[in-house]
Amino acid sequence: LVRSIKLLDTVDSTQNVAQRLAEEGAPEGTLIIADHQTSGRGRHGRSWVSPAGKGVWMSLVLRPGIPLQFAPQLTLLAAVALCRALKSVTSLEIGIKWPNDLLIGGKKISGILLESTAEDERLRYVIAGIGVSVNLERGDYPPELLDVATSLLIESGGQIERSDVVAAFIREFEHLYALYQQEGFGPIRTLWEALSVTLHKLTRLYSPAGEFEGTPIGLDERGALLVKKSDGSIVPVFSAEMSAPKA
Ligand code: BTN
Repeated sequence: LVRSIKLLDTVDSTQNVAQRLAEEGAPEGTLIIADHQTSGRGRHGRSWVSPAGKGVWMSLVLRPGIPLQFAPQLTLLAAVALCRALKSVTSLEIGIKWPNDLLIGGKKISGILLESTAEDERLRYVIAGIGVSVNLERGDYPPELLDVATSLLIESGGQIERSDVVAAFIREFEHLYALYQQEGFGPIRTLWEALSVTLHKLTRLYSPAGEFEGTPIGLDERGALLVKKSDGSIVPVFSAEMSAPKA
């Protein structure tokens, strides 16, 4: 899948670089990696701390040819791939907080941002943005993030080669993406559920339609999170923010 890797020094956001290349016709499998981002972005319009030399900041161009409504499946696939990759390069306990944050001891270690461009309800291309806080130290974070964010260095006590993280991610993503194209979302759903730390725990969800409490019980075949409410009804949730899981 990954057929060309562009290593850049400083960019505003690897998402912007990858998007520009995708618009110019870059094929699926084009991977942009930067040493430093000056305006790294996260989900829900947040910024993403991306200091030079300390993390993996990368964006992958995908052209999966699937209907727009299945885009959440790719987000979940990317989370499974990254979780397996980070487990393979560290011996840390890492779990997935829905939909695609990876947590160690309740703190966020990486983030995934999928930005899609569609035409007639079909995905033209998807830019999968991956940020892994590899060798950040406590002083690299703004104080307000210290309770919620961490790095592989802080958790493991040792420096980790960023190239090892990139190689492990490519390996896992290629494997799972091929599986997805052959067998559909079923196997990915099973793997995601096994790695999730947010299932079967009462949680609060902040969705565009309002906020509510419920217990996530799994994923449906589209990739929506199934949440059981206190009245016993089960609702599919495609997009929301979830409160931090209790350890
Ligand atoms: C999140 O958890 O909010 C998602 C964070 C995604 C960060 C990555 S770093 C590489 C790519 N470029 C960006 O500007 N964002 C993504």
